[in-house]
Amino acid sequence: MSIPTQILSSGYEQPRLGLGTWDIRGREGVATLLKAFELGYNHVDTAEIYENQREVGEALQEVDRESIFVTSKVPAEKLHRDDLLASCQNTLRDLQTDYLDMFLIHWPNPNIPMEETFAALKEAYERGWVRSIGVSNFIIERLEQALAISELPIANNQVEFHPFLYQRELLEFCTAHHVAVVAYCPLARGRVLDNPVITGLGAKHGKSPAQITLRWLIQKGCIVIPKAGSEAHLRENMDIFAWELPPEDEAAIDDIQEECRLCVDPTWAEF
Ligand SMILES: NC(=O)c1ccc[n+]([C@@H]2O[C@H](COP(=O)([O-])OP(=O)(O)OC[C@H]3O[C@@H](n4cnc5c(N)ncnc54)[C@H](OP(=O)(O)O)[C@@H]3O)[C@@H](O)[C@H]2O)c1
Repeated sequence: MSIPTQILSSGYEQPRLGLGTWDIRGREGVATLLKAFELGYNHVDTAEIYENQREVGEALQEVDRESIFVTSKVPAEKLHRDDLLASCQNTLRDLQTDYLDMFLIHWPNPNIPMEETFAALKEAYERGWVRSIGVSNFIIERLEQALAISELPIANNQVEFHPFLYQRELLEFCTAHHVAVVAYCPLARGRVLDNPVITGLGAKHGKSPAQITLRWLIQKGCIVIPKAGSEAHLRENMDIFAWELPPEDEAAIDDIQEECRLCVDPTWAEF
């Protein structure tokens, strides 16, 4: 089954499902990536700080590079021009590729002027190293500043987003400004699996709690990047496009009161 895509403000298309790779490492990690590609995954999310870009690169050698959408991220402490360009070059070397489909600022850094960072991203774009640029962990206020500064379209804001962190306002803001929202930790690192509203909907629709959650995110308009380590989970997470949650069931998840934010960077988080 082919994975639907979203047209980005940069003009490129991004598959609406990708494989998150945080914690995917070593030989086992390469095997997981290869299995995912074999099953039809065509979008992979990595970052310099995951320390797995060599493994991702190794797996990419086994497939047609052009057929896979690859996202990576520059760390928050490398947002000065020279550091960013060096980080991008190292990422390309480790991934054994000559371009990234998407290059994100991993976390905002209030100590480095955004003007310098976005000019450097434009330089990377002009050198052909990156096709689209974006941000991650940007709250509305920062994104507003970024949109005013960047000469290139900001195509993604990758943020934590799941039923226990339903970021309505941020989603509305991003949608209004043509910034695609990529939901990370979409399964709240497994915490959604035993929520009674989600398990109840799973029983009703004959779907797993992970599928119910990912489908809810897709209906909200997000791109999802669940990490999965087993073939069973990889397969399950792909089966989210050929069916729908009716509005009342979508609303039941909207109304979940449980709150949880898993990723709060100790230095830069602005939440
Ligand atoms: N931009 C950022 O700052 C940022 C921060 C965090 C994460 N991310 C990205 O987002 C990706 C996803 O987030 P995450 O890895 O933290 O958490 P996640 O995707 O919410 O959850 C991953 C966990 O869910 C389990 N799982 C996956 N599919 C399942 C299924 N069908 N049934 C039951 N359990 C299932 C996995 O187990 P198995 O491994 O056993 O399958 C794993 O323990 C990351 O890998 C990374 O690429 C970005």
